Amino acid sequence: MCGIIGYVGKNKRAQEVIMEGLKRLEYRGYDSAGIAYCTENNKLNIIKKQGEVKNLKEILPIEASNLGIGHTRWATHGEPSEINCHPHKQGKITIVHNGSIELDYLKMAKNELTNEGYNFKSLTDTEVLAALLDKLYAETNDINKALVEFQKQVIGSYALGIIVDDNYDKMYAIRKDSPLIIGINNDENYIASDICAISKYTTNYMVLENGEFAELTATGIKCFDENGLAIEKDIKTHNPELDDNDKGIYDTFMEKEIHQQPNVFKKMVNSYMNIDLNSANETIEKAFSNVDEQFNYLSENLFCNKIGDYSKFNNISIVACGSAYYAGLIGKKLIEKYAKIPVNVETASEFRYADQLFIDDKSLVIAISQSGETADTLGAIERANQYGCKTLGIINRTETSIGRKVDKVLYTTAGAENSVATTKAYSAQLTMLALFALNIVNNNKDLTATEKIEILTAIKELPNQMESLLNAEAMAKYNEIATNIYNKESLFYIGRGIDHYIGLEGALKSKEIACINSQAISAGELKHGPLSLIEKGTPVIATITDENIAQKTLSNVKEAYSRGAKIYLNITEDLYNKAGDISNYDVIKIPNTHPLFQSNLAVIPLQNIAFDLAEKKGKNIDKPKNLAKAVTVE
Ligand code: AGP
Repeated sequence: MCGIIGYVGKNKRAQEVIMEGLKRLEYRGYDSAGIAYCTENNKLNIIKKQGEVKNLKEILPIEASNLGIGHTRWATHGEPSEINCHPHKQGKITIVHNGSIELDYLKMAKNELTNEGYNFKSLTDTEVLAALLDKLYAETNDINKALVEFQKQVIGSYALGIIVDDNYDKMYAIRKDSPLIIGINNDENYIASDICAISKYTTNYMVLENGEFAELTATGIKCFDENGLAIEKDIKTHNPELDDNDKGIYDTFMEKEIHQQPNVFKKMVNSYMNIDLNSANETIEKAFSNVDEQFNYLSENLFCNKIGDYSKFNNISIVACGSAYYAGLIGKKLIEKYAKIPVNVETASEFRYADQLFIDDKSLVIAISQSGETADTLGAIERANQYGCKTLGIINRTETSIGRKVDKVLYTTAGAENSVATTKAYSAQLTMLALFALNIVNNNKDLTATEKIEILTAIKELPNQMESLLNAEAMAKYNEIATNIYNKESLFYIGRGIDHYIGLEGALKSKEIACINSQAISAGELKHGPLSLIEKGTPVIATITDENIAQKTLSNVKEAYSRGAKIYLNITEDLYNKAGDISNYDVIKIPNTHPLFQSNLAVIPLQNIAFDLAEKKGKNIDKPKNLAKAVTVE
């Protein structure tokens, strides 16, 4: 993981630009940060600090500087510490690194370089890369030739920002399997892991592709291919409206993002179905003709330029990690139920290394990713591409590595999500998967007029229903539940089918931000083992939204209650009314909606309970320990 940024220019103080960029890159890791910059008297200063970027800022001297590189770290090789923190310098080479080097290669290279006289202070792979580049530079006396040779030798992923002692007017950048962009402005140029790091200063940028490297000065950029031949690159323009670095009225990004969910839903429906949720004059015919139009446009080039072709795939595989994987599980249920296409859902880390994949040119592989940069999901798509199948990305951010690898992208348009724990982007993934299933069923002409009315009505009501789960009364209820749970050692989420998958997401949230040992268990599995963990007062949150299996889950709830569990029901209003005697349980009532969208509602209480648990435990909610927003290493 890790975020890197570099600046060379005449207009600004390098340290200032780098510190601002590092702040914006903290979503990629925040266990330590460091900077190397060249002062007016041609001296290179390297300053590092453990902890968040603000710790580094506190100790940074104010000096004039026109070139520098910076790094915010999520430790892979070596624990978080000042010594392992980047930049690393060996000989004449100073680098910052995002990526991870293969262990076998690293061991071999480190041994060889040690034998040649290099001493390593840190436990990082990065310091070995610095030494290797220094050695190659010493041998060739030409940094371009050294970088070409470097590419040939190193096994692993890397995006590097490089300063060479012989010339403090130039900065170098090189990448393989870790993203790196080059920002362009008058009399100043930048490198960054992500455009958001520099979008305050410039919106023009180029994407460095695998194997390419670049030399940057204040007034020019030269790009080269893997053989060191000069190449021209396209200049792209970033839309800064997609950045959102302001917490607004909230104390944390997570709280803000939870509360943005009704608007995210509105925005997605408006853009993909062209239904104006604020207008009473929508006709079903208009709405659905626009679905066709929208999806027709979006699926252009995906198969045969027709939306109907989604339904012609023999099977679908969904690959994703973490919450995106849990959204994929719900997607499977919706696609199989409504579109009648078999769906296999696998974590990307398993899919990419599976012995055998049963996919071919009649298969569709869908990658779901908020960041669009998750290394395993990217790897899974690369593996899928070897089978000649079509690939589709459901991604929240534009201009991403996964977006560039798939045949077609459907953007979830949730806006920038800053909190490490995903909420609005997860919810947007659920919406997109529901729309995807709906698109197929609609195109197959399998929907009756009554069903269309039901779905359209559900869509129109959903934002208000979401709001009702976020009003003061609802928030007080979540807070009361969290007060009862936060000092418990473990927490269980149970449910069946989609309700189990919502439980998985709830449990991940409370693990992630509240650091509570939380387990989501398929309710039917309780008595096959996990029931032995239930003791007097053990909190069990049961989600019940599916009428077909509600009674079954309620029986399992009773089993847990009989063994002493404290039960919290997260249940739809209809099912609450039909549940019989549940007076011993604490209840959150969720409004009923069409099953395609029920999960968008059911997850909201679980997000809020996790938030309240974390707050009561005094956790850093937006930046939980040991985690990062974009997981760019496998
Ligand atoms: C969710 O709260 C987590 N932060 C994590 O599980 C996340 O969903 C996962 O790392 C996948 O990230 P992506 O959507 O950016 O690919």
